[in-house]
Amino acid sequence: MMLSGKNVVLGITGGIAVYKSAELCRLFIKAGAKVRVVMTEAAKAFVTPLTFQTLTGSPVYDQLFIGSERFSVEHVGLAQEADLIVIAPATANTIGKIANGIADNLLTTTVMAAKCPILLAPAMNTQMYDNPFHLANLERLQNFGYAVVGPDQGELACGDTGRGRMSSPQEIFAAACRLLLRKEAWQGRRLLVTAGPTQEALDPVRFLTNHSSGKMGYAIAQAAAELGADVTLVSGPVTLPQPYGVDFVSVTTAQEMYEAVLACFSNMDVVVGAAAVADYRPGTVSEQKIKKSGELIISLTRNPDILAALGRMKQRQILVGFAAETENLREHALAKLERKNLDLIVANDLTQPGAGFGTDTNIVTLYFRDGRERQLEKLPKREVAIMLLEEINALLTAAEEEN
Ligand code: C5P
Repeated sequence: MMLSGKNVVLGITGGIAVYKSAELCRLFIKAGAKVRVVMTEAAKAFVTPLTFQTLTGSPVYDQLFIGSERFSVEHVGLAQEADLIVIAPATANTIGKIANGIADNLLTTTVMAAKCPILLAPAMNTQMYDNPFHLANLERLQNFGYAVVGPDQGELACGDTGRGRMSSPQEIFAAACRLLLRKEAWQGRRLLVTAGPTQEALDPVRFLTNHSSGKMGYAIAQAAAELGADVTLVSGPVTLPQPYGVDFVSVTTAQEMYEAVLACFSNMDVVVGAAAVADYRPGTVSEQKIKKSGELIISLTRNPDILAALGRMKQRQILVGFAAETENLREHALAKLERKNLDLIVANDLTQPGAGFGTDTNIVTLYFRDGRERQLEKLPKREVAIMLLEEINALLTAAEEEN
């Protein structure tokens, strides 16, 4: 069976869509998963735990504290055991709590203790869904790597029509399977990601850099780690939180990034160069702060091209580069693919709104060594990361089958 050996925690919060959760629970069980159901108090007002107890053949979890004295560590156990947590329906209240680090019941504490992927199926009235606080909470969670399925448009239980219907059990189940099974594909694969800008000192207080935020590279590193890969992230200076579950190497200059990457390259299966590496650095770094006087001419020295160096050295590794361009995107991207001996290049046009530096979305075209091209629509960087990783995985599998 497709999901045998998989542990799913099904979190149920208090919304009328809860009647669909029983069907979702059945789908998991029929596919061979072990399902633990956690219900909030509000959920129990809609449906009794007995329904889920009967479907799963085990008790429903709903108590954070058992008895008045003993503190239960149920949430830690549930979180550790889970391969996936699915919250369906996910109310605005629970989404808001999780997004803001509140853990005040068994479900929210389990989520806080979890390392596995988490899938939310929001369900609520349209006005609540469109409330800016709710939308900001949901976006925040997505940026932290939470997966979201739905909601659909349509008639709601309260009589309104609009966004807010929970996705169908089949749709939620499919999204859950993608998360559960994708992980296997990346187990044991070693992936190195470079991200962020580099800083090239001019003097003790000034440096040359660029607008890279690191968001794309961090999204790739985080998604790959969640999919089960062993990820090393070599990052220039950014303000993002370190992704969970990756080996993190912090660097400042292009030369440091080059050395860090070369030190581990031979162990890697894939390298994704998402960093915006400075092509030049000041030829000399002044020991003292440079004082103003007349014209200042700075001479620049070339930095090593990290990906090009890897392209010359590569044996079996898949090399993926980025091309951020302001003109002739396709031409420049294809030239880089060739020049750096890459297997795939991800090109984005910096002049398009919603693409490139600092944004949470990206609009990219993938160019493959074999001549294939794939254009992706405007997507959150995390979605771009997942699609890119699927393509890389296909390249890895094809290379393995060849050998
Ligand atoms: O040649 P260009 O800098 O436009 O190429 C961009 C790609 O090459 C990116 O993937 C970037 O991470 C990588 N690169 C590098 N070392 C450099 C410059 C760029 O690895 N010195």
